[in-house]
Amino acid sequence: MKTSRISGFYKLSVEERLKIVKDFACLSEEEVELLKSSKIGLNKANAMIENVIGTFELPIGIATNFLIDGKDYLIPMVIEEPSVVAAASHGAKIARVKGGFITHYTGSIMVGQIQILTENPHSVKFEILKHKDEIIEKANEIESSIIKLGGGCKDLIVRTFEDMVVVHLLIDVKDAMGANFINTVCEKVAPLIQKITGGKVLLRILSNLCPQRLAIAKAIFDKKAAGGEDVVEGIIKAYELAKVDIYRCTTHNKGILNGVCAVLIATGNDFRAVESACHAYSAMHGYKPLTHYEINEDGDLVGYIELPMSVGVVGGSIKANPLARICLKILGVKSAEELARVIASVGLAQNFAALRALVTEGIQRGHMELHARSLALSVGAKGDEVDKVVEEMIRDGKISMSKAKEILEKIRKSS
Ligand code: MEV
Repeated sequence: MKTSRISGFYKLSVEERLKIVKDFACLSEEEVELLKSSKIGLNKANAMIENVIGTFELPIGIATNFLIDGKDYLIPMVIEEPSVVAAASHGAKIARVKGGFITHYTGSIMVGQIQILTENPHSVKFEILKHKDEIIEKANEIESSIIKLGGGCKDLIVRTFEDMVVVHLLIDVKDAMGANFINTVCEKVAPLIQKITGGKVLLRILSNLCPQRLAIAKAIFDKKAAGGEDVVEGIIKAYELAKVDIYRCTTHNKGILNGVCAVLIATGNDFRAVESACHAYSAMHGYKPLTHYEINEDGDLVGYIELPMSVGVVGGSIKANPLARICLKILGVKSAEELARVIASVGLAQNFAALRALVTEGIQRGHMELHARSLALSVGAKGDEVDKVVEEMIRDGKISMSKAKEILEKIRKSS
């Protein structure tokens, strides 16, 4: 049985970690080499955006311990910030005690918006509804694998404003993120809408807000594993501040997006789209936390998260980026739905771990430990020496290259 519960993964060398990931995800030698070189290549980069002069690297880390809907996942995360990968793994480890994450997905419906300028919004609305079937039929005339797979425009609604009307095409995008498809559909039906209404069509573009494409996750964080009753109560108090104070709520949600965006980037997805959707979704009834916490009858902390999640596992940018394809292979997700469920779980683990750290030792200790570890390695500490150097630097509150050297020399002399 494959398990993502790997203790001490952080203590291994990069080579040792790669070996574990290779076995877990059945990566080929070629894929491992590509991960090591971490190059997408100038030719590929040149085909992705305009005016290319190079590529830009970020670390790929693996979050361990994730058990989601009964399946083990190793989660690739691309991020520049220390402690995020460790925190996600730690949150997942505690969630695992009571069975891991349970998730839901509400479907892949996105919105395409068509704006019509008119003096008579109500009569325009009436005409559009009269021709609804014809508009939907036109929208689905597009040659696309999304249509072949049963996706496409399923319905439409009409919203009126003082001197304009906005048609929402409700489009099932299946396993794609969907932006290109939706924009093509909107442009395709716009002339018909213009003809039907006599109004002037202006914008024809997707909305990144997708409240009908939600990923929802729940986890029970065992009281004892979380650190006891005081910690659980502290997390509830921290959550309550986020509910009433927009300053705290922004940081609360930022912590969630640390994990969410890291997985989005690793899998070649449009992280700006999800980020803007998350903020808009959380602001639909006044800006609120994207997670919810309560205490159950056993005194455990129950966490929920609900995120609009427009992600894909197919599509141009994913196809073009071999590293994104390898990250998807490591994740082992087969659909956009599965990826969305995984990302919601990462967001919840991330938030829980941040709150837990904040109500106990604070988050700086984790950062210090990582810094101390990298100093220990850079002065040549090996195996057990690394932990000893790290422990002593943290205990003495002196974290520097010279201190790491001094401790290492002392350890070697005394052994
Ligand atoms: C840091 O990137 C994220 C945190 O500030 C999140 C939070 O405060 O909840 C630790």
